[in-house]
Amino acid sequence: MFSVGIVGMGSYVPENVITNLDLEKMVDTNDQWITSRTGIRKRHIAPKDMPVSELCYRAGLRALENAQIAPEEVDLIIVATMTPDYAFPATACIVADRLGAKKAAAFDLEAACTGFIFAVATASQFVATGMYKTVLVIGGETMSKILNWEDRSTCILFGDGAGAAVLQPVEKGFGFLSFELGSDGSGGKLLSQPAGGSKCPASLETVEKNLHTLQMQGRDVYKFAVRNMVDVSVNVLEKAGLGKDDVDLFIPHQANIRIIDAAVKRLGISPDKVIMNLDKYGNMSAASIPVALDESFKEGRIAEGDRIVMVGFGAGLTWGACVLKWTKVGLKA
Ligand code: UT7
Repeated sequence: MFSVGIVGMGSYVPENVITNLDLEKMVDTNDQWITSRTGIRKRHIAPKDMPVSELCYRAGLRALENAQIAPEEVDLIIVATMTPDYAFPATACIVADRLGAKKAAAFDLEAACTGFIFAVATASQFVATGMYKTVLVIGGETMSKILNWEDRSTCILFGDGAGAAVLQPVEKGFGFLSFELGSDGSGGKLLSQPAGGSKCPASLETVEKNLHTLQMQGRDVYKFAVRNMVDVSVNVLEKAGLGKDDVDLFIPHQANIRIIDAAVKRLGISPDKVIMNLDKYGNMSAASIPVALDESFKEGRIAEGDRIVMVGFGAGLTWGACVLKWTKVGLKA
């Protein structure tokens, strides 16, 4: 089996920004409530005519450029998203075509906000076994397109963006040291987009009732998130033979500053090792972790050999984490 690591990173967020003050004019909310309850100050929102494939394409291109790898060399593209361009064809196929990744197999993976973790875990199996050498993994979302902009309990939380990573074999002892993934379908109703699938196809009635938009029972998701982030982080560290003091960087899914603070406190990880960017972007679902990883790398916060824990949770319910020992090869900040 090969060791598998990240050899290139890229991200993209759309230019247009909606601040909490902007939201005050749209729904019955205020900056103070949003900031104190969530930590979010603004979010980037894609224009109406920009689908998620465009965000994923731009992030993917940047990652390939960063890795100095031509699109023709890519063997597989996995896009983690819950806001695909279409139910089918897969967004990954559209992205492969845009990139000119002619030999790449391509498919989408849906694990909501845990999507990037599920996707790197999946991608790394292909590389570890030698079936593929180069896999492009992209977490991308246009959450703005599935929000009910009249529902103050959800529309203030999310943003749009994409982050990408190129996976290849790396020197033994580097790269991904452990993964842990989990899911519990009994909690599916806590966070869902009820209409538009085969259970409840889109109709005039579903649109009138806003059933094609994201629905969430926030408090229940909150409790699940804190509990699971702690458990899965402990497990993934144990699998890697590491303890909390070995963690150089902790990159949690960026949903709510209070969830992150509570989990970090219980884990006993020093706050200066925790990456947070939700104040700028809100919750970008599958894009949250790769955008944070890319920014951390480009800001010089990651050095060779650093041990990074990435942990996510989301609809499904799903959760997952990995330990990544930052690779020695090829990357340029
Ligand atoms: O990627 C995973 C996706 N989701 C999450 O991670 C979300 C997890 N949950 C959360 O982050 C939090 O539960 C929320 C931020 C969604 C809500 O915070 P909360 O502290 O759990 O508030 P709450 O839902 O219990 O609501 C408290 C009050 C309510 O008013 P009453 O009933 O106490 O009078 C809400 O109606 O705050 C009200 N409220 C708002 N007020 C101003 C809810 N949304 C807003 C708002 N502005 N935007």
